[in-house]
Amino acid sequence: MSINNVQRIVSHIRSGQFRILNDVLRSHTCVYNSKAYLSSAGTVTGQKFILQNKFKGFPKESDVKLLEEELPALQDGQFLCESVYISVDPYQRAYYQRVGDVVLGSQVARIIDSKNPRYPVGKHVIGNYGWKTHHILDDSPSRLGFSTVIIPESVNQPLSYFLGILGMPGVTANFGLLEICQPKHGETVVVTGAAGAVGSLVGQIAKIKGCRVIGVVGSNEKGDWITKDLGFDGFINYKEDNFSKLLTKQAPNGVDCYFDNVGGEISTQIMRQMNLYGRISVCGAIAVYNSTKDEAKASIVQTPMVFKQLKMEGFLVNRWLNRWNEAVNENAQWLKEGKLKSRETITKGFENTFQAFTDMLKGVNFGKAIVEL
Ligand SMILES: NC(=O)c1ccc[n+]([C@@H]2O[C@H](COP(=O)([O-])OP(=O)(O)OC[C@H]3O[C@@H](n4cnc5c(N)ncnc54)[C@H](OP(=O)(O)O)[C@@H]3O)[C@@H](O)[C@H]2O)c1
Repeated sequence: MSINNVQRIVSHIRSGQFRILNDVLRSHTCVYNSKAYLSSAGTVTGQKFILQNKFKGFPKESDVKLLEEELPALQDGQFLCESVYISVDPYQRAYYQRVGDVVLGSQVARIIDSKNPRYPVGKHVIGNYGWKTHHILDDSPSRLGFSTVIIPESVNQPLSYFLGILGMPGVTANFGLLEICQPKHGETVVVTGAAGAVGSLVGQIAKIKGCRVIGVVGSNEKGDWITKDLGFDGFINYKEDNFSKLLTKQAPNGVDCYFDNVGGEISTQIMRQMNLYGRISVCGAIAVYNSTKDEAKASIVQTPMVFKQLKMEGFLVNRWLNRWNEAVNENAQWLKEGKLKSRETITKGFENTFQAFTDMLKGVNFGKAIVEL
């Protein structure tokens, strides 16, 4: 992959505006197979999932509804996209979503019709249009502050990587670890959710930086993957008893950096084994996303924070929108050099998006969870 191209893509993500890459403008002939179908009136019919009930506890199939929608004819300046890959992510459970709205989500989509010369038919875009098969777009930014970006053909990586290692989870792992934890050679790093989209990259990046890395995962099979294939030094299956003892065994010299994807009691247990001036990057709290307020409890963390003089900082990846290209660029380079590996768990069929989402929340996925249409 050309790093320049990655930088250029990301500069478009950052800009918050629609622009187009010069090389895309120069060559835009492409054959595509559209899955859209035409109604008797000649308009395109797509599908979408809307939120029918607010999620309460673990999401239920009845919380979402699959609807068909007939799309109007394109106006000047608009273009029609068809989703190719949709990303299922924990934030779709954690973020507030209004009943009746299309469920939040990002995708890689193919332009199948266009009345906007900057968005020619056949190109692929990355955007945040929700769980929909088809989208009529114009020059407005998509949701969550991310704008629509065309993927140049010269990018020699699978399109789905733009939802994972070269997309939001990759930037989260890179900046969330390097900026907040600032891991040093020889230090011990612990990451929870270690076999997931973000966690599997965090651990590999920490290894690149010369750290001893312990991943916390929900099964021994995941542990085998992160140690044998990704180079983690050890793993703990948090579903086994005596987490604290297992951690002492895996990190006998204590923990210097903790990348927290899950929150809850496990996080407190890890913080109790941190070294003086340890750093904690709080990325997410998936252990409690499906809990009610009363259920979500963990022991206090102030004692280790005071006596070990720890630094704990939460973040949203959007804070680095203006530096997005640095992280994508670096991840792309490491990918090219074989220092970073990407794995995806792909569910086929738009109608199975909700299933893919709940599978991800249950931990079925290894690496990035994605739906292929
Ligand atoms: N701050 C930000 O800007 C930002 C951006 C992206 C993601 N995030 C957060 O980062 C975290 C990871 O996201 P991701 O996209 O990489 O998801 P992911 O790790 O690919 O998928 C979620 C994983 O969470 C684990 N999990 C589920 N319930 C759990 C529990 N009760 N305790 C411990 N682990 C549990 C499962 O793995 P196991 O089989 O190991 O349980 C599952 O595979 C999430 O908390 C997400 O909200 C934050």
